[in-house]
Amino acid sequence: MIKGFIFDLDGVITDTAELHFLAWKALADEMGWNFDREVNEKLRGVSRLDSIGIIMDHNAVNLPEKEVVELATKKNEIYVASLNQITPEDYLPGARELLTHLRQEGFKVALGSASKNSTKVLAQLDATKYFDVIGDGNSVSKSKPAPDIFLFGAEKLELKPEECVVYEDAESGVDAAKAGGFHAVGIGPKERVGHADVRFDDMKQATLFEVKSHFKDLF
Ligand code: G6P
Ligand code: MG
Repeated sequence: MIKGFIFDLDGVITDTAELHFLAWKALADEMGWNFDREVNEKLRGVSRLDSIGIIMDHNAVNLPEKEVVELATKKNEIYVASLNQITPEDYLPGARELLTHLRQEGFKVALGSASKNSTKVLAQLDATKYFDVIGDGNSVSKSKPAPDIFLFGAEKLELKPEECVVYEDAESGVDAAKAGGFHAVGIGPKERVGHADVRFDDMKQATLFEVKSHFKDLF
């Protein structure tokens, strides 16, 4: 039986991809690196250090690890400053309604995000109250597609993976959910999350009603 829900943050609860893009773009411009929205799309769900690795590969750049960490920190400072502009108006359509609904129905809810800035983002949205457990980039060392972040959330919720539904918008996030034995809801196009157990174009469509109808025997 399904007793809990675990949510990715960026691209599921709110869309921080644009702010990540602008921060990486500022760094790339400063470094004289090529970086566009197409490359940015590859960073969805990917950790900060893996992200800079992808951008450097795209530019055939190689730097000592210490310098790479410093540059990633610089990008993060730009990104964190930009988070101040997020308000409770910035939920993706349907996300707040779903979180409210889950609270009303008594489901356990966890966050399972790769971001080390998730508590700041949740606070800006005034969304902290919807979560029993916060699992983020600070909670585990192995990032998605490893299932660790979702296993962390399930364990803290005192649930088994098969008792939880995971919402994800990233290919690597759906991989992580499946690797951990969770039921996966994919948010986005077929090419990205078509391997989830059920897929919706956006959060507005991914209501509790729809998810319950899909996993009929599990509720
Ligand atoms: C999320 C985003 C990624 C981002 C990662 C790390 O998964 O989708 O684009 O790189 O979090 O975020 P952070 O805030 O720790 O740099
Ligand atoms: Mg995401």
